[in-house]
Amino acid sequence: MTTTTYDRLTERAGAPAFGQDALIVCDSLVRIYQSEGIEVQALQGLDLLVDEGELVAIVGASGSGKSTLLSVLSGLDVPTAGRVRVGPWDLMAMTGAQRVAYRRQMVGFVWQQTARNLVPYLSAAENVALPQALAGVGRRERGLRAAELLDLLGIGYCADRRPGQMSGGEQQRAAIAVALATSPRVLFADEPTGELDTATSDEVLEGLRMVNRELGTTVVVVTHDPSVSEHVQRTVAIRDGRTSSEVVRRTHTADDGTEHVVAEELAVMDRAGRVQLPQEYREALDLVGRVRLALEASHVSVWPDRPRVTPAPEQARTDEEGSR
Ligand SMILES: Nc1ncnc2c1ncn2[C@@H]1O[C@H](COP(=O)(O)OP(=O)(O)OP(=O)(O)O)[C@@H](O)[C@H]1O
Ligand SMILES: [Mg+2]
Repeated sequence: MTTTTYDRLTERAGAPAFGQDALIVCDSLVRIYQSEGIEVQALQGLDLLVDEGELVAIVGASGSGKSTLLSVLSGLDVPTAGRVRVGPWDLMAMTGAQRVAYRRQMVGFVWQQTARNLVPYLSAAENVALPQALAGVGRRERGLRAAELLDLLGIGYCADRRPGQMSGGEQQRAAIAVALATSPRVLFADEPTGELDTATSDEVLEGLRMVNRELGTTVVVVTHDPSVSEHVQRTVAIRDGRTSSEVVRRTHTADDGTEHVVAEELAVMDRAGRVQLPQEYREALDLVGRVRLALEASHVSVWPDRPRVTPAPEQARTDEEGSR
């Protein structure tokens, strides 16, 4: 494994690298788009760590930067600033040839548009064989791998069908098989269920879960669907180009030995100490602009910056008498 620029920069600083043990590291990512003189900050200092073998969902409103993040991670786009590493690959410092190698060897993709994922005049099995043929895999092995992947995703019966003869959900599961054809370490999926109804999208999410569990592939899936956190261990929410909160599902064992899954939403603090307070909290206490912070023994409290209420003289006297 070569030492990346990322490693060298952090080593020089003498500090342990941020996310040293993680497979995917996004460190203060910024992506600014310039269009017709207008500047759009799609990513505004986004931090994200994903460990090898994780299945992570990314949720967020339209325009929050999810696709931008996935384009960066899949090597299609280069951020304006920050650092991004996937395995040994420093995505900020890759040459064109390295970028091609990264996309062929390290990562697989599934897009929202079913038509973008599959070649329409090839059968499902031929679609899965195609990337393997490009990678120089022999005919027999290609066929075996295609059958194995289609079976794993529960669509072995579609092997000889062309995309037009398959349902949307079957096509997306075939697309997952194609993305995995050359055994990438990471699978990225941008809204793979965006064009599907709830029942069908559950099948596709279950397919991703199966791939993660059976093949050990690290999976990062972007979705609009907030119910995705019921399917995955960890859901990361992006707001305004930054990771704002995470829902973590943990299995909790009660005193009587019964197991419950507990889902907890946690805010994410970046390394500069910034945390995003949920809108409903801010509105409930009218928190805007300056706020007062107080360090308590076990937590930090946030107060609105209102003039301290000084008791009226009459009231103060009664209080004093009362306390005597
Ligand atoms: N090529 C581009 N040129 C200019 N602005 C862009 C470009 N791509 C994205 N943007 C802007 O960047 C912001 C983030 O876009 P992005 O596509 O990442 O959002 P998203 O979270 O994927 O949204 P959606 O859920 O609608 O897919 C948006 O304001 C978008 O308009
Ligand atoms: Mg998008």
